[in-house]
Amino acid sequence: MIKATDFGNDFLWGIATAAAQIEGAANTYGKGVSIWDTFAKRTGKIKNGHHPEPACDFYHQYKSDLALVKILGFKIFRFSISWSRILPNGTGTVNQEGIFFYHQLIDECLALGLMPYITLYHWDLPEALSKNGGWTSFSINAHFNEFVLLCAKSYGDKAKNWIVINEPFGFTSLGYMLGIHAPGETGLQNFFAAVQHTAIAQADGGRILRSEIANANIGTTFSCSEIIPYTGNQADALAAKRIDCLINRLFVEPTLGMGFPDAEWEVLEKFNISHSTWRHKERMSFDFDFIGLQNYFPIVVKFNAFVPVIQAWEVKAKSRKKPYTAMGWEINADSFYNIIKQFAAYPNIKNIMITENGAAFPDHLINGKIDDDERIAYFELYLAALLKAKNESTNITGYMAWTLMDNFEWAEGYGARFGLVYTDFKTQQRTVKKSGYWWQAFLNR
Ligand code: NOJ
Repeated sequence: MIKATDFGNDFLWGIATAAAQIEGAANTYGKGVSIWDTFAKRTGKIKNGHHPEPACDFYHQYKSDLALVKILGFKIFRFSISWSRILPNGTGTVNQEGIFFYHQLIDECLALGLMPYITLYHWDLPEALSKNGGWTSFSINAHFNEFVLLCAKSYGDKAKNWIVINEPFGFTSLGYMLGIHAPGETGLQNFFAAVQHTAIAQADGGRILRSEIANANIGTTFSCSEIIPYTGNQADALAAKRIDCLINRLFVEPTLGMGFPDAEWEVLEKFNISHSTWRHKERMSFDFDFIGLQNYFPIVVKFNAFVPVIQAWEVKAKSRKKPYTAMGWEINADSFYNIIKQFAAYPNIKNIMITENGAAFPDHLINGKIDDDERIAYFELYLAALLKAKNESTNITGYMAWTLMDNFEWAEGYGARFGLVYTDFKTQQRTVKKSGYWWQAFLNR
């Protein structure tokens, strides 16, 4: 059985959250409307008609929730700043009440001896900016920079650990290509425009933090999945390569100064992404102190001529008779190891932190307890894979579990439970799950 100390005494253990998923108070205390508030009003977009109000009411309960983080033994508390809470229109007038809220949150972390890791953008764009095209519009870059500057100036003297963007591929694909997430836009044209502006925002954000904050530790995060061809035939192998370009390489390579991976996949050329951005190649790159990797599952792909452009199709875990979570995501710790190694192979990534990893299961509260043994088994497998990667001397310096408590899981609403702590959404009562106690024992051993 592995122990936390096997990772070394300097290894950082944390827990990750995001504003729109936990805060609630979505329409009060001066907060402006975010794209998730609006998206939730559109029929059929979010399961069971759920919406981000009241989420976990963290806005009011942050003190007791942070106390739980401390009790469970984590050192890092990762949270995000809601852009529309501090800039209700996305730009211009500042909501001082919002600024004050994050001051209190940071101060409480510091008082408890927790290290705040602050994500600047975790998917909740102000609606006012979305009306003008959101991430598809070139104007987003100036607005994002204004937001970053405000955060850096407000909190930079006491908060030193920053994450610029959470999973750029996640929100640009789900929100601007597939329409499954806010703002519900579709099509490759929207997607590639959003990709370009996001890649620029990520590096611009890094530069602003660097120039404003002394001794800042600056990172950004990428979702990633090992891409496995369904069969050994060449069509499937090429399909897997295309999906790898899209899912794993599209954002990290521009960040590392390599530009988009268009030499490998001419589709990116076709969408003009490289031509319209070649002059931004430098602007898209920034020397981050750490790269955050977020992994949950591998993706198995098969060639499919009927899928436009991408010509690939995912073969789900269920149809392959593999174990999977309540999200339908394959449980496969070897793929966690493999994708870490894939990223660690980039020569100019200095330092890797796992900034999210975890699993949803259908937890049931029975006699005041949640015996989520499946989640414990998941963490045991994934942490063993992480230890193996770390021991092979890739520069892995920390791990953050997703997530503290069951919360608003975007289009899944409140149905998908990822927490180490159970949230009763009717009463806002928290109950530490067996996996929470497992973590407590793991970190204190
Ligand atoms: C990635 C996202 O960053 C987070 O917001 C989400 O809840 C988890 N994955 C689980 O889907």
